[in-house]
Amino acid sequence: MRPAYDTLRAMLTTINFVAGVLFCCLFWLLAGDAVTEMLRPRPVMEQKAYRPGTGGGGEPEEKVTNGIHDATGLIFAEGFEAVRGNCTACHSAKLITQNRATAAGWTEIIRWMQATQNLHDLGENEEIIVKYLATNYAPEDVGRRAGLDVESIEWYLLELE
Ligand code: HEC
Repeated sequence: MRPAYDTLRAMLTTINFVAGVLFCCLFWLLAGDAVTEMLRPRPVMEQKAYRPGTGGGGEPEEKVTNGIHDATGLIFAEGFEAVRGNCTACHSAKLITQNRATAAGWTEIIRWMQATQNLHDLGENEEIIVKYLATNYAPEDVGRRAGLDVESIEWYLLELE
């Protein structure tokens, strides 16, 4: 009976081995991505300097031209990340860049969206966001276009008839 027992044992060992390999394969199939993700080195978030024309990160969606963030059209200044992170999910940033308001006005717009449009509580980001908006999209900006040079205008009489 001894040889048969040895054979059985050898078979069991083989089956054990194969089962082990299969288990490993199955585990890798099911959890491989999670493990790879866990082991992947995390990119370190670095503080980006807000300098016109430099952009950050070097990726296309991070490109900044003349102080304007290309992808969103938002002014690339302090607080930009908070605004992009909280204000561009529901609508285009155009709604922001087309508007001008004081800090109080922007807070009012935010309250309105919170009351009627399901905007989430901005927490401590609200201060950063309102400061960014009031600084970069202030009412005075409307008059940024150079004033008319009245002296240089050649006036003429409009002849009717
Ligand atoms: C939960 C979705 C949501 C988020 C997030 C959101 N908004 Fe809005 N917002 C809206 C909706 C909806 C409108 C109305 C759009 C329309 O009228 O077409 C709107 C309109 C606006 C308007 C135009 C208001 C007007 O009077 O015409 C501005 C400006 C604005 N949002 C700025 C912001 C800012 C700044 C943030 C970030 C703090 C933000 N939004 C985040 C949903 C959102």
